[in-house]
Amino acid sequence: MSKIVDAYFEGFQENTIDIYSRVYNEFLRKKIVSAKEAATAIQPGMIIATSGFTPAGYPKSVPLALVDRIKKEGFKVNLWTGASVGDELDGALARAGGLAKYLPYQTNDDVRKLINEGEIEYLDLHLSHVGQMARSGFLGGKVDVAIIEASAITEDGYIIPTTSLGNTASYVQSADRIIVEINVTQPENLAGIHDVYIPNDPPKRSPIMIGKVNDRIGVPYIASDINKIQYIVPCDKPDGVRDFAKKDAISEAIAGQLIEFFHDEIREGRLPCNLLPLQSGVGSVANAVVSGLVDSDFTDLTVYTEVIQDGLLDLIDAEKLVFASGTALTLSPYGLKRFYDEIERYRKRIVLRPQEISNSPEVIRRLGVIAMNTALEFDIYGNVNSTHVMGTKMMNGIGGSGDFARNAYLTIFFSSSLAKNGLISSIVPMCSHVDHTEHDTDIFVTERGIADVRGLSPKQRARRIIDRCVHPKYQPLLLDYLVRAERETHNTHTPHQLNEALSWHERYLKTGSMAVKNA
Ligand code: COA
Repeated sequence: MSKIVDAYFEGFQENTIDIYSRVYNEFLRKKIVSAKEAATAIQPGMIIATSGFTPAGYPKSVPLALVDRIKKEGFKVNLWTGASVGDELDGALARAGGLAKYLPYQTNDDVRKLINEGEIEYLDLHLSHVGQMARSGFLGGKVDVAIIEASAITEDGYIIPTTSLGNTASYVQSADRIIVEINVTQPENLAGIHDVYIPNDPPKRSPIMIGKVNDRIGVPYIASDINKIQYIVPCDKPDGVRDFAKKDAISEAIAGQLIEFFHDEIREGRLPCNLLPLQSGVGSVANAVVSGLVDSDFTDLTVYTEVIQDGLLDLIDAEKLVFASGTALTLSPYGLKRFYDEIERYRKRIVLRPQEISNSPEVIRRLGVIAMNTALEFDIYGNVNSTHVMGTKMMNGIGGSGDFARNAYLTIFFSSSLAKNGLISSIVPMCSHVDHTEHDTDIFVTERGIADVRGLSPKQRARRIIDRCVHPKYQPLLLDYLVRAERETHNTHTPHQLNEALSWHERYLKTGSMAVKNA
């Protein structure tokens, strides 16, 4: 945490945390206990489902108390979250050896290491699917205990969530027992920013009636059976927010090309002047794109995305963004302070929804979202690998990228043309793992250029991608691969030399570089 945020939270660093005044329901006030006592409700092998999406709105005190128990007693639990979360939850449990199975997305270095060492069973899922899967019992059991961060509990016993919604409402609905952490660093006037709606499961599903990004279809709280709430626990630990990756020349070059592309699309009549609702993933390129929009002449923009980042606050302040819908406030330390300082103003332009709705294929398709996400690598035909380094090692997970990529009006993937100082080409003959197929992708952008592959056949796509996106160091090699594949397959529909298609990855693993020596 930066100094600026430490100073902001100084007032909370005391031992006496008063949450009594935030629990408005008399019956539930009797359930206030310490985190240590609440953690005793968790037994070995249980399925623990928590609030939280990115390091926003996740429980902190009970997981840390559980880690203390696990260190002494040595057992494992299964953890379901919204996505990734903060280190006090997944990182600490992983380091204590307490995680048996984890889903649906992560970004923690220690968790990643243990997944790739085979110590944690990891389920990498489309984020929009998880709520329904949990409710329907697809994930190997029912939620034993849901641990939920809240800013308050209302007189009726409703839970007011904090900086994310994720899968919280579905987990509350399906859990046997609930532990609520009232986090006093989360302002009570977060109330009202949430729009909680859980679709009925098939065959009783109705259309999700969102026709504009700012449509509200639910309620601003999570309703629960108060008898299921077993404990209420105080917490004074702020969200473990992090600074963003800095913009660099490559991310700025990619962003610049995208903005030019948007202008071209408007000129061609394929996009309206204020674009369409934007979705942008996390990372330095996504930040650079949003910054580029702040400096551009676009106005009346809308956002239908997963995470609300600092750049969107900049767009609101610049009067360029009309409304943003997401599931989490994934802000930097400075961004979080800025948001807390002016919640009332930002709340008029922001709504947080369950991830089943923020990432709903139905809504994304209806609104005509422009999806912008980062690829680890893509191949000459336009298949994308977002998750597996060299085809076998999990990086983070697919997250929401598949929810958006498959259903968007325009599906854009970006990447630097090179990785690991040029030892890796991000464009390869064949992806070593495929998350998004050629059928889902429209536009590729690297710092070298932009390849619009809409309306092109596989061989036309390959030539355009090689020509526009590949670094000159690898361009001749890729073209040579394509020409030989065409010749050897007698110009088949999607030419490949199967014995060579993954040779670039193999060469990197053997020699430390994808380049051919003396080529
Ligand atoms: N092959 C092997 N390694 C590669 C690589 C490639 N083609 N491209 C990048 N890498 C390595 C980088 O060198 C870096 O390694 P390091 O951690 O050892 O430094 C690591 O992968 C991450 O790369 P970086 O360029 O820093 O990535 P990023 O922060 O921009 O994230 C993804 C890129 C793809 C990992 C990230 O966007 C992601 O997890 N995407 C999937 C989920 C998603 O899209 N979510 C948003 C949807 S709403």
